[in-house]
Amino acid sequence: MKTKLILILLTLSLFANQSRAGEGMWLPLLLSQLNEKEMRDMGMRITAEDIYSINHSSLKDAIVLFGGGCTGELVSDQGLLLTNHHCGYGNIQKHSSLEHDYLTKGFWAQRMEEELPNPGLSVTFLVRMEDVTTQAMKGVNDKMSQKVRDSIIRANSKVLVKEAIKGTQYTAQIKPFYNGNQFYLFVSEIFTDVRLVGAPPSNIGKFGGDTDNWMWPRHTGDFSMFRIYAGKDNKPAEYSKDNVPYHPAKHLTISLKGIQEGDFTFVYGFPGTTQEYVPSYAVDMTALERNPIAIGLRQQRLDIIDKAMENDRLTRIQYSAKAAGISNSWKKMIGESRGIKLLDGIEKKQSFEQDFQKWAQSNPETNAKYGQVLPAFEKIYGAYIPVNNAYTYLSEGLLGIEMVRFAYGFNNLVKKCNDKSIPDLEISKLIDGLKQSAAAFYKNYNRQVDTQLFEALMTTYSQSCETGLQVPVVKETAAKYKGNIKSWTSDVYKKSVFSDSTKFYALLAGFERRDVRKIEKDPSYILASGIYTFSQNTFYPLVSAFTAANDSLQRLYIAAQMEMQAGKRFYPDANSTLRIAYGNVKSYKPADGVEYKWYTTLDGIMQKENPEIYDYVVEPKLKELYNRHDYGRYADADRSMHVGFIASNHTTAGNSGSPVLNADGQLIGINFDRCWEGTMSDLMYDPDQCRNISLDIRYCLFIIDKMAGAKRLVDEMTIVQ
Ligand code: ARG
Ligand code: GLU
Repeated sequence: MKTKLILILLTLSLFANQSRAGEGMWLPLLLSQLNEKEMRDMGMRITAEDIYSINHSSLKDAIVLFGGGCTGELVSDQGLLLTNHHCGYGNIQKHSSLEHDYLTKGFWAQRMEEELPNPGLSVTFLVRMEDVTTQAMKGVNDKMSQKVRDSIIRANSKVLVKEAIKGTQYTAQIKPFYNGNQFYLFVSEIFTDVRLVGAPPSNIGKFGGDTDNWMWPRHTGDFSMFRIYAGKDNKPAEYSKDNVPYHPAKHLTISLKGIQEGDFTFVYGFPGTTQEYVPSYAVDMTALERNPIAIGLRQQRLDIIDKAMENDRLTRIQYSAKAAGISNSWKKMIGESRGIKLLDGIEKKQSFEQDFQKWAQSNPETNAKYGQVLPAFEKIYGAYIPVNNAYTYLSEGLLGIEMVRFAYGFNNLVKKCNDKSIPDLEISKLIDGLKQSAAAFYKNYNRQVDTQLFEALMTTYSQSCETGLQVPVVKETAAKYKGNIKSWTSDVYKKSVFSDSTKFYALLAGFERRDVRKIEKDPSYILASGIYTFSQNTFYPLVSAFTAANDSLQRLYIAAQMEMQAGKRFYPDANSTLRIAYGNVKSYKPADGVEYKWYTTLDGIMQKENPEIYDYVVEPKLKELYNRHDYGRYADADRSMHVGFIASNHTTAGNSGSPVLNADGQLIGINFDRCWEGTMSDLMYDPDQCRNISLDIRYCLFIIDKMAGAKRLVDEMTIVQ
């Protein structure tokens, strides 16, 4: 009996020292030290050195940060790159017009000359990374304030960065890890001539739309293709038609062999942000305070916008991208709060905190260093939560009114017009810029929709945001209208020049300096400027004081956790640097009595088909191929066309477009989402519920080859069968 108990305790403590299978976003540099053995035990057949090496080419040379917030991977020696459709969306849209509606119909360049340049788009390769903790922290001690500490580190970093890129075309950056306990240097190479090669029509690339977003079973063909161009020396060059396709040091081999449940997989990409080591107070603030407020306000916006889109085609074009953005975070937040609740996330953190406190107080030295960390957290979060809530009402509510957000952009003009030292020429340049942003704004603006948004959001703001932290102009104006928001709304939209593009352009057309009075008197501007001033003078100091206090506590807290759990491997929170997540292809049980299989097929697309519902219209050509069962070499061994699959890799926003690789390091899928039940993984990972969603690479190639007929692209790739 006794030995059994000891055995159980032993196994339990053993598990406590392991991060949960699938959990973690690991540094490629440290794989051989921390993960390689486990990865191989899980089935991997390549080495850590094959994944990341600075001595010879490795898989890392085929991975890029795509734009600012997605990942892409090289799939040919001609610079051909794959990412998600939703990552290329903005650029696909920019090339689209009513005559060439690439967004709706898809786009495939037939020859390299037809590939379309995208000013402003860049891709970033990691050349190398290095632990520079000692150098970055030179001169830092425990006694100094967070501010002094930060400034020393900043100064050290500047020197290190300069040194690292001397005599090269590279850029470099130093980023904090473990909340500022460690620092790594990243040397990168940025390419700016990136051209659009192809994109499927929206009814493939966005099939299921916002309805299916964050959900499994999923059937979205979420991919698009670009190509990196370089100068003749294969180095980064500004766009020029003389540029040539870039030859990467490595491109991925694509496997058509198919996937089985249990297979080892890993995701190589640039996850954005996670907060795995925060105290219960932080989880409480996000899951129980911030999310519900933001969810409610986004729900109001979506109700209004969705209805308007349903009733009018133009409104759909104008608002679909906006609605997608609003809906994406809305649904993520619902899933996240729900996930934390079902996981007893806050209780789990609290119980850890009790152990932590006991450990800290168990010896005078740790007590002196860490004994006050949790009480201090409790205090600062207690004071900050109301502020954060009020700020959420402001940013998600007041700034959800389009006209107010637009008027917000005029602050600078007003300031400059009133500053006599600013020459007229500068004012007219500003006006030119504003004319351009106005064109972009009004192109997608519907006044009726916005009027409804104003009334709904203002009503919620006035009723629900804590009065002491309400923007004074809003409070005063609501009082002036005796709380009659409806009549306030109708006055604003009647009087404001911002609500009417014709009036607005007339004002800008003949703008003279003294016309600034008209802007200053405008009710939208008055609101916007009141919000701005209140944010600057009241919120900003509160937020930055909290952030400074929180940063220094969090730094201590994670150092303490590492000291307390000395045997445990800690992965650093995501911070948009290159990481590896690994796990297995795996089904899951989202609810009592339900089990989700690990893959979906084209049959599911046909089952979802509904010509009446925008998100579920099936592309006719795809239907033909389905009816003919014409899948070629892309069919699975079970003869069906696999579309998506899930696995236990720990991913987050920024991992969109990341390659999903098999045990041999071959490309089997493109990551594009997470299952809704597991969206709390940014705060807490649950091996039972957290799954990343990937597009099966065979479906992607099937679309390129059979549907788009772009065989020239498939021929460039390295494919194994
Ligand atoms: N949820 C995915 C992500 O966070 C996809 C978002 C784009 N798709 C959409 N239907 N809104 O980026
Ligand atoms: N769709 C997300 C992205 O754009 C990935 C989903 C997630 O958050 O895991 O990065």
